[in-house]
Amino acid sequence: MIFDTHAHYDDEQFNEDRDKLLSSMPAWGVSAIVNVSASLDSCWKVVEMAHRYPFMYAAVGVHPDEVGALNEKSFGLMRELFEDDKVVAMGEIGLDYHWDTEPREVQKKWFIRQLELAGELRLPVNIHSRDASEDTFQIVKEHGKRLKGIIHCFSGSKELALEYVKLGFHIGVGGVVTFKNGRKLKQVVEEVPLESIVLETDCPYLAPEPYRGRRNYSAYLKYVAEEIAALKGLTAEEVIKKTEETARSIYLIP
Ligand code: NI
Repeated sequence: MIFDTHAHYDDEQFNEDRDKLLSSMPAWGVSAIVNVSASLDSCWKVVEMAHRYPFMYAAVGVHPDEVGALNEKSFGLMRELFEDDKVVAMGEIGLDYHWDTEPREVQKKWFIRQLELAGELRLPVNIHSRDASEDTFQIVKEHGKRLKGIIHCFSGSKELALEYVKLGFHIGVGGVVTFKNGRKLKQVVEEVPLESIVLETDCPYLAPEPYRGRRNYSAYLKYVAEEIAALKGLTAEEVIKKTEETARSIYLIP
């Protein structure tokens, strides 16, 4: 069944029908969803939501655009959330030089602090990197030793993808692989072994074709699986099965 390794169901775009949508997930073939926090506030929301649905888990962490909210006190409070059984990862954390909402030095500082905490807690990480490939890779290499995790919404070259695979990381693939201008990600998918790929929506964003531009949700991952299958000469069922196994082994969800 489909495992969505990265979703944002606390997003306001789901306010109208969140419960109805999530209650239908098992019927649509979705077996697990990791709901990922982005802002500091959403760290509490994703944990609370994970307790409402048996198939939902939480990743706690602060996105690079939002690290301005972090200080020693708030970092300490966030840390307490990792005692919760349904928190399976740290994320999303990383660097975003596209928006540059926070100064790069501040982004780097909190990225490193969160990576180190993940190492201490032995948790996998969910990494966001936008227009910051080189710095992200250097920091992961230096401060993410022994860590495993997912490079979410991977947008780098196939060479970089293989470097991450060498470090033991996995490549998160979502709707972009179905886009006409998604050639670079298609090449990554052709090159990276299937066991190093996982499926992710990043919903409500990045809906795959034929729904590009609409609100995304986990059931649309079937279109992503179909595209990966076409690129690799497999069936969508094989892709869904293998990526689920991989995601369960990363997040330690039996
Ligand atoms: Ni995200």
